Amino acid sequence: SGGAMWGGRFEEAVSSVVERFGESVSFDKKLYRQDLRGSRAHATMLQAQGLITEDECKAIVSGLAEVESEIEAGTFNWRADREDVHMNVESVLIDKIGEAGKKLHTARSRNDQVVTDVRMWVREAIDEVRAKLRATQVALYDLAAANEGVVVPGYTHLQRAQPLLLQHSLLAYVEQLERDRERLLDCRKRVNLCPLGACALAGTGLNIDRHATSEALGFSEPLANSVDAVSDRDFLLEYVSCLSILAMHTSRLAEEWVLWTSEEFKFMLMGDSVSTGSSIMPQKKNPDPMELTRGKTARVYGALMTLLTLCKGLPQAYNRDLQEDKEPLFDSTETTIMVLEVVAEFARNVTFNTEHINKGLGAGFLDATTLADYLVRKGMAFRSAHEVVGKCVALGESKNCELKDLSLEELQGINNIFTGDVYESLGVQNSVNQFQSYGSTGAKCVEQQMQRWGDEFKKG
Ligand code: ARG
Repeated sequence: SGGAMWGGRFEEAVSSVVERFGESVSFDKKLYRQDLRGSRAHATMLQAQGLITEDECKAIVSGLAEVESEIEAGTFNWRADREDVHMNVESVLIDKIGEAGKKLHTARSRNDQVVTDVRMWVREAIDEVRAKLRATQVALYDLAAANEGVVVPGYTHLQRAQPLLLQHSLLAYVEQLERDRERLLDCRKRVNLCPLGACALAGTGLNIDRHATSEALGFSEPLANSVDAVSDRDFLLEYVSCLSILAMHTSRLAEEWVLWTSEEFKFMLMGDSVSTGSSIMPQKKNPDPMELTRGKTARVYGALMTLLTLCKGLPQAYNRDLQEDKEPLFDSTETTIMVLEVVAEFARNVTFNTEHINKGLGAGFLDATTLADYLVRKGMAFRSAHEVVGKCVALGESKNCELKDLSLEELQGINNIFTGDVYESLGVQNSVNQFQSYGSTGAKCVEQQMQRWGDEFKKG
């Protein structure tokens, strides 16, 4: 039984319900690579410090290699009575090499071992999520590149506001995903600190070298306080916070694309490979991947809430509650990676219905603010210009026409400041051409943005 590891003071085996309740190996075996790497580094350090012999170290290292190939071949005998990945590996090692195997856990506790493994796992996950983010940015950029010059209505309150170049609108997501990449990179600094050697909570009286294991495992330095090292999961909270913000971004994109693929908008056409039909309605073509992208956000937020709640009531140092950190960590990571793959795949398989978009651009007075700017250039105070243009809009509305269709006489009837050049500021195309402030939607600014991202992605 699992009692083998602590059998000394126990007379009875653990009951089966308690065993089933407490086991984590069914999900934490995902940490096996990190666990083996940690054990190799630990054994090597123990030998360098004279705490085990060279032969013992060799036996441990080759025993661990055997364990690794068995796990990878699928022949490793995972046992729930051995609780978790750590004791499964260690027990099999002892079965294989005997006495030397019993020395591996010198100056180590599962408390520092598990959080070392998790930190290594998160470090790799960050690198993978960041790579997926980059691939998704590239897919969005490519979609933008294929749609140069396309103008779409921009919305605030989901009401038509001002015209936008589609490229500008798509690059907004590229910017957001870039901040997600940066946030994760910054978070990685605080993930990449080594708890190993903190042991159960107090450190050890044995002469270990924490700096050596930290370095061997690719950490930037050992955590300075052993209690802190085994207690805190703030690095996980931070990581899953980053994922949650990322998921918020992809969810907003998904929501927009669900709208854009609807009959009401009809801005975007989906390829068959990224849409699904209905089991009853023969005509249907649904944007399920985007709906699920929006929906999966709930899982990621849920993971964050689970972790926050898990940690809030714990006294120092290690508490078994912390075993519950793994499933939300794994699930939020896997979900995020899938979401990013799907968003990229979707972006690669949509086209814009520019004919339909163009037909509708006259609606909603998208050029009204540009007209107000025209009046400002003529010397009118902006608040007065706002009022004058408001009257122009009212007139257009009553005549059921666009601003550009109002005659000069009609405009001058509202205010005699208007002259013939006003038509250069009217119409959606003229309007979008006027934008020139840094970061605005004008063609020059957007071309610069495309250039900058193109260069960035070429760097790789
Ligand atoms: N499976 C445990 C976890 O995930 C490992 C640490 C257990 N430590 C202990 N003293 N029971 O947190």
